[in-house]
Amino acid sequence: MKILFLNGSPRKNGYTVSLMKCIEKGIDSSHSIAWIHSYDLNMTPCRACLQCRPNKECVSPKDDGHYVWHKIRSADAIVIGSPTYFGNISGPLKILIDRNLTAFEEIAASGLEMPSPLHKGKKAIIVTACNAPYPMSQLQSQSKGAIQAMEVAIKAGGYNIIGSITLDGAASKDGVPLKIEEQARILGMKLSL
Ligand SMILES: Cc1cc2nc3c(=O)[nH]c(=O)nc-3n(C[C@H](O)[C@H](O)[C@H](O)COP(=O)(O)O)c2cc1C
Repeated sequence: MKILFLNGSPRKNGYTVSLMKCIEKGIDSSHSIAWIHSYDLNMTPCRACLQCRPNKECVSPKDDGHYVWHKIRSADAIVIGSPTYFGNISGPLKILIDRNLTAFEEIAASGLEMPSPLHKGKKAIIVTACNAPYPMSQLQSQSKGAIQAMEVAIKAGGYNIIGSITLDGAASKDGVPLKIEEQARILGMKLSL
């Protein structure tokens, strides 16, 4: 199984990536794992020309957005994570998602029919980290907004979201707490079953 990790954090040793690495630990080594770090990509934002609908892929000049399209299309499962920024996901992850509309769903050229999800039955996990402590962290204006922003794209793809993890109160923590580490590892195991 090909498992794709889409990271929306600029901090490769931060909490988002740490949580995603805990998930990776739970995945059996027989599976192939690929990471995409959105902050490392050279990718223009979506221009809303919507030519990706009839053309399938984005029609703008080739850049890393096209590379990501192929990775999403061919992955058998996805782990997506972002820090919570103003109750939302990071800018580069948002660009990655918007640029890859047709990697998640197929839309008839007429644009009149409902989009069809391209990844029905595949598993997904969603991750975020934020500074707000529990229970404030659960507000729409905090981590809930970030989780929901990722959910919209993942649900458009038809994935089965097997779990989402929020590490809250990040500023006052010294590493990922053991309980959350274990929760993430178990989700990783379930993803690869
Ligand atoms: C631009 C910016 C906006 C942020 N907005 C929020 C927020 O709305 N709520 C919150 O709880 N934390 C917020 N934070 C804090 C981050 O979510 C927190 O530092 C998190 O641990 C970052 O994830 P990372 O460790 O993967 O980098 C913000 C941080 C930045 C840089």
